[in-house]
Amino acid sequence: MPEATDALDIIHTTRAMRRLRPDPVPDELIGKILRAGIAAANGGNAQKWRFLVIKDPAVKKAVQVFYKRAFDEVVGPRYASSAPPPGMTRERFQRQHRAVEYLTEHFHEAPVWIVACLEDGPNPNRWAGASIYPAVQNMLLAARALGLGSTLTTRHLLHEKEAEAALGLPEGVHSYAILPIGYPMGNFGPVSRGPLSEVVYSERWGEPWREAVS
Ligand SMILES: Cc1cc2nc3c(=O)[nH]c(=O)nc-3n(C[C@H](O)[C@H](O)[C@H](O)COP(=O)(O)O)c2cc1C
Repeated sequence: MPEATDALDIIHTTRAMRRLRPDPVPDELIGKILRAGIAAANGGNAQKWRFLVIKDPAVKKAVQVFYKRAFDEVVGPRYASSAPPPGMTRERFQRQHRAVEYLTEHFHEAPVWIVACLEDGPNPNRWAGASIYPAVQNMLLAARALGLGSTLTTRHLLHEKEAEAALGLPEGVHSYAILPIGYPMGNFGPVSRGPLSEVVYSERWGEPWREAVS
């Protein structure tokens, strides 16, 4: 898949790429993704993020077991009974569901994982998350720019203790996302979202924001 350089184009085509080829990804590209990660905003510039790069099939498989268990117990049934989100047809939602199932089965086969972690202390809160997810998004955008696919995943947290033990995280460190990274089987394309007018208010809560047309 071609690389991209226009920032807005990258943003609008960075969608969840769940079908990945097992072909190896050069370390040089992983370095570029990680450098984009640590360029992100973070509270007080304390840089308490830590990133675990995992290629070891045994570790990935050990975590995938919990990722799949969470699908079977929680996520699969929820998908089956949910309506499509704003801006998405039922057919596209069903396609997404199939892709989610595919990633569940093949999570460990992505050639590289980046596990985004934080030295977050005993009581992590919203400030903690706010200091790691900008880095996660930067990495997703960088991967897209380099022609690599990924998806922000957090489902392993439904079995947090077991998954983090399998990842070998020390005390005082928690995982916030696992990014499976690889060359995508499919094409990048535009994300689908609902209209701005339904989620943006102007001056007062509930007053739809109207975009000036020039
Ligand atoms: C907090 C969070 C957790 C997510 N966890 C998962 C996950 O565990 N597995 C997965 O396949 N996708 C996961 N996603 C991806 C979302 O499903 C995806 O961003 C959403 O469906 C929009 O997809 P699109 O960007 O391709 O349009 C997660 C996204 C976020 C922001």
